Amino acid sequence: MKSYKIAAIPGDGIGGEVVAAGLEVLEALAARDGDFTLDTSHFDWGSERYGRTGRLMPEGGAEELRAFDAIFFGAVGAPDVPDHLTLWGLRLAICQPLDQFANVRPTRVLPGIESPLRRVSGPELDWVIVRENSEGEYAGQGGRSHQGLPIEVATEVSIFTRAGVERIMRYAFELARSRPRKLLTVVTKSNAQRYGMVLWDEVAAEVAKDFPDVTWDKMLVDAMTVRMTLKPGSLDTIVATNLHADILSDLAAALAGSIGIAPTANINPDRDIPSMFEPIHGSAFDITGKGIANPIATFWTASMMLEHLGEDRAAAALMNAVEQVTADTSLHTPDLGGEATTRKVTDAMLAAISGRN
Ligand code: NAI
Ligand code: MG
Repeated sequence: MKSYKIAAIPGDGIGGEVVAAGLEVLEALAARDGDFTLDTSHFDWGSERYGRTGRLMPEGGAEELRAFDAIFFGAVGAPDVPDHLTLWGLRLAICQPLDQFANVRPTRVLPGIESPLRRVSGPELDWVIVRENSEGEYAGQGGRSHQGLPIEVATEVSIFTRAGVERIMRYAFELARSRPRKLLTVVTKSNAQRYGMVLWDEVAAEVAKDFPDVTWDKMLVDAMTVRMTLKPGSLDTIVATNLHADILSDLAAALAGSIGIAPTANINPDRDIPSMFEPIHGSAFDITGKGIANPIATFWTASMMLEHLGEDRAAAALMNAVEQVTADTSLHTPDLGGEATTRKVTDAMLAAISGRN
């Protein structure tokens, strides 16, 4: 029987609540089918550790993670620590050294969940956003001089490399090819940003030649928000830069009903290096400790993790259970307009997995 080494990093706030729920469901699934076991190690990395030691994770932490098959992550961010310290001190400190360059964000309107879009009942909105996850606007280049003086200057430099753009473009075209509609939209802002974004357009056109079976088009990011809202059915796979896709995928999550259901995978396609799976949302201090965090995003990302590990049957079973649970509106948490708790939703998942409902 296969055994997978999972690094669980719940992080801060509701991260702990949803990761615990996710692990419970994963364990139930493994026990039911007996196809695989999970050998989970728990890491206390996050803001509490920062308060104690001055670091969110130990030095060499990302190296330690290389020994695992996958990383199951919650969220990072605390009210008393600046957000750029927590993000760069943990999440990006894992994604960047492990070169998880493709951030994959599926969006669907799950059964029972209402889209805020009037004409969308479900099938009209079925997207996967591929976010460049290693460079672009979040490459980490920049600086500040003359801090606090009237002449203070700050730069935030976007980096686009041909190698970086080409690999994300190939990843997106492959993904588009694997989906029934074989349709890719490449998002840029190449009218105003005339260097990096023009390179992005040129590389897209070059890579497209290797994918004659994929239909593709280009959108400027501002117009893309309009198309997502007014013509969601015209989109399928979407590729965009680190910043653009960060914003578009939050919009996508909202259009599909809630940020509490949106999953993501930070993928390094090299199987020897672990990829990282997490809900899109953050640590949500406003609801931390109340027991009402929606765990659906974490269940969905757990399904993506199983799929990545090659456990397709278990991944599909988990997604099936998710759809059974969301279809029952009495199991909706407050973010979806309901009154259910994290515990209640998790129990319903466990029941669906064991076939008890
Ligand atoms: P957030 O995603 O934590 O919360 C935004 C809103 O959505 C809040 O009203 C929250 O209650 C709600 N929400 C989020 N997840 C939910 C869930 N599972 N169930 C029900 N409601 C949910 O974003 P916010 O407030 O901008 O950031 C809070 C902290 O999280 C900050 O420190 C931020 O830097 C961090 N953050 C971390 C991320 C990560 O670790 N990947 C991603 C986004 C934010
Ligand atoms: Mg975001």
